[in-house]
Amino acid sequence: MSWESFKARHTVFPEVGLGLDLSRLGIPDAFFTSMEPALHKAFAAMAALEKGAIANPDEKRMVGHYWLRSPHLAPTPEITAQIAQTLERVKKFAADVHAGAIKGASGKFENVLVIGIGGSALGPQFVAHALGHARRDKMASFFFDNTDPDGMDAVLAALEGKLGRTLAVVISKSGGTVETRNGMLEAEKAYSAAGLSFAKHVVAVTGDGSALDKIAVRDGWLARFPMWDWVGGRTSELCAVGLLPAALQGLDIDGMLAGAAAMDVATRIQSREKNPAAQLALAWHHATDGRGTKDMVILPYKDRLLLFSRYLQQLIMESLGKEFDLDGKVVNQGIAVYGNKGSTDQHAYVQQLREGVANFFVTFIEVLRDREGHSIEVEPGVTSGDYLEGFFLGTRDALSEKGRGSVTITVNDLSPATIGGLIALYERTVGLYAVLVNINAYHQPGVEAGKKAATAAIALQREVVAALKAAPGQAFTADALATKLGKPAEAERVYKLLEHLAANSGRGIRRTPGAAWHASTYSAG
Ligand code: PA5
Repeated sequence: MSWESFKARHTVFPEVGLGLDLSRLGIPDAFFTSMEPALHKAFAAMAALEKGAIANPDEKRMVGHYWLRSPHLAPTPEITAQIAQTLERVKKFAADVHAGAIKGASGKFENVLVIGIGGSALGPQFVAHALGHARRDKMASFFFDNTDPDGMDAVLAALEGKLGRTLAVVISKSGGTVETRNGMLEAEKAYSAAGLSFAKHVVAVTGDGSALDKIAVRDGWLARFPMWDWVGGRTSELCAVGLLPAALQGLDIDGMLAGAAAMDVATRIQSREKNPAAQLALAWHHATDGRGTKDMVILPYKDRLLLFSRYLQQLIMESLGKEFDLDGKVVNQGIAVYGNKGSTDQHAYVQQLREGVANFFVTFIEVLRDREGHSIEVEPGVTSGDYLEGFFLGTRDALSEKGRGSVTITVNDLSPATIGGLIALYERTVGLYAVLVNINAYHQPGVEAGKKAATAAIALQREVVAALKAAPGQAFTADALATKLGKPAEAERVYKLLEHLAANSGRGIRRTPGAAWHASTYSAG
């Protein structure tokens, strides 16, 4: 790469402490010129969204995550007040917990167990890991982010004997997400098995009047914090969803909000040269032909950003991965996102990135400050951090040599402001890109489809168990049972359900192996 092309495509945004280098994507000037009208349409759409337009036409709701860090920009005084009051309540609650004014049965709360999934877990997990510090944190963070019983057992094992000092935070915008409901019930059981009142150790973050909200009111939980319909799950890190766990952990939530607000100012500017989100959105468009033809590999050279790729995976793929465009045309849009961290990944999949199928572009994230304080020299004049920088530079060149494109984002450090800024940068980039490719970034019909399919599977399981119990001692193959239920087309699903039931003690289903796997029989008792 020449210094001249680097100078032409590298922009420094000092007001947000960010550098953005697009020089390794080979974007010609003509591309930027041709995209100017579309970009200005995207700027206008984002400005309308920030003023309170119905930006999610399916769900008929506003999209207001930008107001969370600049409440004065909200379209009504009520929303402005709600945001400010909730922030104050979050801070007051966290301060009371830290002071021991709100405490568990065994004393001051020392742990926080977040129960949520998707947008109600990924942001809190990312921030807890990115900003947490074992020696400084006021509370240690734990997560139930799935309905995997073994996963929950692992977390509960780590909390054994400590539940009396553990505050559970159940987070669900809809208040009806099954995985989160299950996590809540499993936690409740664990607290009561330890002789503790769950209600005295739990708070809710949820929509007003949701099923979760009703449980919290009915059982007299310690507190309830709101989640508004104008905040989408995957853009909820900077409302109570993310701020409450972070404040409890003792993280600087004002710093995160300030960083996000500053990034919003920078990414509101209606000029490609001056706006990092506009540049990034155009880079995505160029790299993926505006159709997701290439995957986005997120490679931060910093351990604390390990979970950033998971966070971005949801933000980008759930927002952009859509079957239809806004005109109802089938487009199957999206950009696949994956990644972990460098240089660790150099010992894993980077081999393929350099020499294998060229179906990706990389986003490198470079963090200039290595650590708090000084580093030892691992060789004369050289530190571990120098090596990390060296591996980043080397890998980037190694990919460029083979014509594999990359973007580089440079930040000074990993302060709360930087983390808030990165969240805001990607939120705005997703919003702009969605307009460029004419899709609705703010709904998730595919997620709903998965939820419905799971409900149907559970309903079928109930029928399967009822049919076996109605014929005690009688054994059926999976396809015979499906036929008996009048659902021969469901034989595969019935087989899967039976195998799962039979593999778990206490479910009352016995499996007798047959000559072939599909000839096995199942009976109740
Ligand atoms: O971004 C989204 O909307 C989803 O990923 C949700 O966050 C996820 O399904 C969890 O939903 P809820 O917060 O309603 O439990």
